[in-house]
Amino acid sequence: MTDSAPANPIDVLMLGPLPPAITAHVDSHYRLHRWWEIKDQADFLQTQGPSIRGIVTSGRYGASRELIESLPALEIIASQGVGYDPIDIPAAKARNVVVTNTPGVLNDCVADTALALILNVSRRLCQADRFVREGRWLNEPFPLTVKPSGKRCGIVGLGNIGLQVAKRAEAFDMSIAYYNRRPRSDVPDRYRYYGDLIQLAQDSDFLVVVVPGGAGTRHLINDAVLNALGPKGYLINVARGTVVDESALIGALQDGRIAGAGLDVFEHEPQVPQALLEMDQVVVFPHLASGTEETREAMANLVLSNLDGWFRQRQVLTPVV
Ligand code: 8YV
Repeated sequence: MTDSAPANPIDVLMLGPLPPAITAHVDSHYRLHRWWEIKDQADFLQTQGPSIRGIVTSGRYGASRELIESLPALEIIASQGVGYDPIDIPAAKARNVVVTNTPGVLNDCVADTALALILNVSRRLCQADRFVREGRWLNEPFPLTVKPSGKRCGIVGLGNIGLQVAKRAEAFDMSIAYYNRRPRSDVPDRYRYYGDLIQLAQDSDFLVVVVPGGAGTRHLINDAVLNALGPKGYLINVARGTVVDESALIGALQDGRIAGAGLDVFEHEPQVPQALLEMDQVVVFPHLASGTEETREAMANLVLSNLDGWFRQRQVLTPVV
């Protein structure tokens, strides 16, 4: 991120509330328009749309084809988050609009969260916490739980975050297997490759989903995968809610066809189905895998470096197209 503003104020449209560090910088270095506060958006697009040169958004707010196409001067979409599935990439490409995301800086926190969910759901920490708070320990023992150490960790999508999950799982003496479209030649030989997701699920105690969202992975985790994971298997999702068929997941949990689930993401956030909330074998987290002070600061800096870099030198650090 740079300190001084580009010479002439550049019009930037922010699509939803973002961290104060991002908003304050954009507000002081650009002419900031807050999309979500604009009452007549159609009128705004008519009158101001032609001057908008940058969009600042996130993996939550995205950027639709309709919006991209109604901003003729648009040059860059700087997004917070590694996932950019709600940004219409083909529409941006067609218009030569640069899209940036924030990879790398959040790998640790997302992987930490995956491990936290593994430990939490197998040792039932949230349920045990409720048990103690409700005073039930005074009258009854808490049931025995499941040992995560030494178990089989199956990673769906061995990218940079997946590798950090593997590293952490190995510290718990877990074996590592993974499903990707192709095997990776740059990972330890002991990481076993599966080209068949059902087989990986069959051979996993914890199936950790870390693939990108979007149409290509929609409902990748379906009934068949959950059945293969089996009654002793746990599903962990730190990717996108769309990757898991949530109704199938609820059914599998209710029938005891899988043992439990640790979920950071949901199909219709922030709505979480009541059925999931009622199950003790489920741990839910409000899509906060990257949500630490440190990581969110690094993500904000990267968003701003991309935005400033583009308008100063036509250079960005982390383009997706
Ligand atoms: C963000 C994420 O919470 O990086 C991602 O893809 O899901 C999270 O880090 C999300 O993008 C909202 O900014």
